[in-house]
Amino acid sequence: MMTTQLPVHVPVLLQEVLDNLLLPPGARMLDLTLGLGGHAEALLARADAQSRYLGVDRDPVARQLAQQRLAGDPRLSVLARTYEELWSDAGFLAWRAEHASEGFDAILADLGVSTLQLRTPERGFSFRDNGPLDMRMDPDHGLSAREWIAEQTDESLANAIYQFGEERASRPIARAILGALQEGRLETTHDLARAVYRVIPREPAKRKGHSDPATRTFQAIRIAVNGELERLGASLEAAIEQLRPGGRLAVISFHSLEDRIVKQTLRRLAGIYDGPGRTAPVELPRILKLVHPGGIAPSEAEASANPPSRSARLRVAERLP
Ligand SMILES: C[S@@+](CC[C@H](N)C(=O)[O-])C[C@H]1O[C@@H](n2cnc3c(N)ncnc32)[C@H](O)[C@@H]1O
Repeated sequence: MMTTQLPVHVPVLLQEVLDNLLLPPGARMLDLTLGLGGHAEALLARADAQSRYLGVDRDPVARQLAQQRLAGDPRLSVLARTYEELWSDAGFLAWRAEHASEGFDAILADLGVSTLQLRTPERGFSFRDNGPLDMRMDPDHGLSAREWIAEQTDESLANAIYQFGEERASRPIARAILGALQEGRLETTHDLARAVYRVIPREPAKRKGHSDPATRTFQAIRIAVNGELERLGASLEAAIEQLRPGGRLAVISFHSLEDRIVKQTLRRLAGIYDGPGRTAPVELPRILKLVHPGGIAPSEAEASANPPSRSARLRVAERLP
């Protein structure tokens, strides 16, 4: 059951997205992570009546709320898909053939979880509010976090916590989590947090700048459960192929692992060699240009007004002819 008092998701780096995605008359826009439609609403407000907007999200609650928010806007279509499976999907190909046969002018990917997901206890993403240990962005598909943990060994769980959470105490934390599971004490998000606190005790009064010890483990398990990094690079490459010349892709990432994949993918497609040695063994094809090579971080004002934006980074690339 969902809570009726739904949390608000404030779109991150909104002005920067609006400044960087260029909308010609009759713009064709693709939003790979529609969420609650915050970016969509602002982009549609700038676009003319002939424009079309395709919003994709794997979360049924987000899709429903976005549709309510943008109710009656005939320019919007919504697809229930993951962006990994979108590109060969019949529904997507039919929409593109009808509305965007020459490609897209603007594609947005605002990665990760929404505040709605994080702050709805029943979704099981948060160590602050207690809820079932779920963490699926699409609750109708795949394994819940508890089911996923039950399939892990000490080693595979420790590896995931280390790789996706950059948690140095991954091994003892993995043992504590699987120990709690065996004792029948791993049903809720608070149970998972308690297993972490057994290894890294929580300070009674949180010191400024110190995050909760459970943050990294929750991030890691969420990334693993949703396969968040598995095909991100390939999906961005597929998105770039959908741009018409001069069209732009904007990607917002929220942690260094995500940003590294975004940065490496875009740099490679911009013909920039980052491998070992000074020169590439073969010349890299250059199909895009980087609009802000270093990426864009939120202003201090945004970071303090909307703390979840603090770790965000926007990268923008433009498709070359
Ligand atoms: C940060 S929120 C987007 C918020 C949105 N830009 C707004 O302003 O309301 C990210 C959204 O992406 C969705 N999402 C994450 N990974 C996805 C994937 N692989 N395919 C489709 N949607 C995904 C999540 O369900 C979530 O609703």
